[in-house]
Amino acid sequence: MCGIVGYVGPKATVDVLIGGLRRLEYRGYDSAGIAVISAGHLEMRKKSGKLVNLEAEIAAHPLPESHIGIGHTRWATHGAPTDGNAHPHLGGPAHKLALIHNGIIENFAELKAELLAEGTRFASETDTEVAAHLIAREYEQTHDLFAAFSSVMNRLHGAFTILVVHQDQPDVVLAARRNAPLVIGLGTGENFLGSDVAAFVEHTKRAVSVGQDEIVVLRADSVELFGFDGTPVAYTEFEVDWDASAASKGGWPSFMAKEIADQPQAIADTLMGRVRPDGHVVLDDIKQISTQQINDIERIIIVACGTASYAGDVAKYAIEKWARIPVQVELSHEFRYRSPIVTPNTLVIAISQSGETMDTLMAVRYAQELGAKVFAICNTQGATLARESDAVIYTHAGPEVAVASTKALTAQITAGYMLALVLAEARGALDEAHLTALGQELLHLPKKVSEVLENISQASDLGTAHANAKSVLFLGRNVGFPVAMEGALKLKEIAYIHAEGFAAGELKHGPIALIEEGQPVIVMVPSPDDVDSLHPKVISNIQEIRARGAKVIAIAEEGDGTVGNYAEAVIYVPKTDAIMAAVLCVIPLQAFALALSTAKGLDVDQPRNLAKSVTVE
Ligand code: G6P
Repeated sequence: MCGIVGYVGPKATVDVLIGGLRRLEYRGYDSAGIAVISAGHLEMRKKSGKLVNLEAEIAAHPLPESHIGIGHTRWATHGAPTDGNAHPHLGGPAHKLALIHNGIIENFAELKAELLAEGTRFASETDTEVAAHLIAREYEQTHDLFAAFSSVMNRLHGAFTILVVHQDQPDVVLAARRNAPLVIGLGTGENFLGSDVAAFVEHTKRAVSVGQDEIVVLRADSVELFGFDGTPVAYTEFEVDWDASAASKGGWPSFMAKEIADQPQAIADTLMGRVRPDGHVVLDDIKQISTQQINDIERIIIVACGTASYAGDVAKYAIEKWARIPVQVELSHEFRYRSPIVTPNTLVIAISQSGETMDTLMAVRYAQELGAKVFAICNTQGATLARESDAVIYTHAGPEVAVASTKALTAQITAGYMLALVLAEARGALDEAHLTALGQELLHLPKKVSEVLENISQASDLGTAHANAKSVLFLGRNVGFPVAMEGALKLKEIAYIHAEGFAAGELKHGPIALIEEGQPVIVMVPSPDDVDSLHPKVISNIQEIRARGAKVIAIAEEGDGTVGNYAEAVIYVPKTDAIMAAVLCVIPLQAFALALSTAKGLDVDQPRNLAKSVTVE
């Protein structure tokens, strides 16, 4: 949702802002705009639709050379995605101040009433514009921009990252952050602001994560941080480990295609330095948690949204089987607003690619209020989730740009396996041979994922062949169940067709009524060697739906000699541990959805209505 960029420095500001906005496009947006100050004058261009519309507007009405500015991509909340509602918004009758905002100002109605009563004229239907007018009004009284800005920030309720420039103060960008992301990029003689490091990583890798309720005073040669009460705040910088080129398509037709192909590397990077050759997993990330504390854990609650919640489901199977700790997985927004039972011996694990999903942040804060320790599994350095958790296991998937998550998911699942093995070892829940065999199998995952990708054209061809399908169902048992749900989510997200994932055992309790002649069903078939005899049960489920006309595509283990008799098509994946099979089985489903969406001529990377990083509740 909404992308934010700010810049002060010698470079051509319009180029820096547009470049930053392009790198934030993945967040999802429906209009864009920039404001710069040049020769003491504020200039603004904004346009609904994609960035190309804004670029065409700037080409038609060029902006003067400038060395300070702010840029925004808007995901509409209050007011339709029109030119007028696009950010920046101008403050005051003389239009000297420009402001951009990510989040929702919850008390905007009362603030707007106050301004309307004074005769302020509004140019948009947004909640944001009130902040621009309030700051401009205070500035006109005191001529102290920092004082006006901080006073207004203290009056706002809700979630906001706000950036402001004022033509009377042409060397400074002011920014504030509450419940919405903001990161500073430190350069030499230039400084940057961004919703995340992608906004400026091509210019600098030195970054500072802005804390909750902090104000940034950004100049070309200085960066200062203050609390909302005006007290200076110290900051520490970190080095961004993302390569700018990792956030480009690199010759692939879409980011999603590239990110699917990135998965062997993403998993290998996530495992790197954490699994010893002898199969022991060592997670330095959680070393501050003692063995005693691990032994004291009575229950684990995993909170996450969307695809990340399916990584949580797979982690549940792994942790319960290997570490013997009870686990429940909850959608963050459901967990937060009921009365969950959380004790100091409850471990909460929050999974989020972006680390900025507001629902998950709220769940984490709530869990901490209730006394729980929180571990995060997160892909983004400096993200709010990482800052606020007691320990962070970073996935090293690199920047994920396509809205539909692929490599972040398999990296999250990999992190879940590692955590499960660490917990199992600390609690003595697995014997040494079993424990290390599982650790060693983890090290084989990148190669096995590469093997799946070598044969991915079969899944892609099947996706293309189903371009006219009205509905696709997915079935699985054990870890195949969350994989089935993820397969369905991918189709909903990028192909806009009805898709559902079911536990195969649940079929007879209702969903089988959906089956009619020709219904495509993709079934995750467990290993024929599995000890819990799930294979024959799933084969029976396949027969039940085929008898009613379903066309079955099976995802099965190489060497499975029987499944071919029961399916129209079988996609084989390499043999691995039953729980780890989730990582291999989900990849053909990603490719199936990608090909189906492409065959329908849809934008796979930026599907309609969706934002990659959902920064409002
Ligand atoms: C949004 C995206 C999903 C993503 C979910 C969680 O809904 O569209 O693709 O899975 O957020 O994102 P997170 O960054 O918390 O993993």
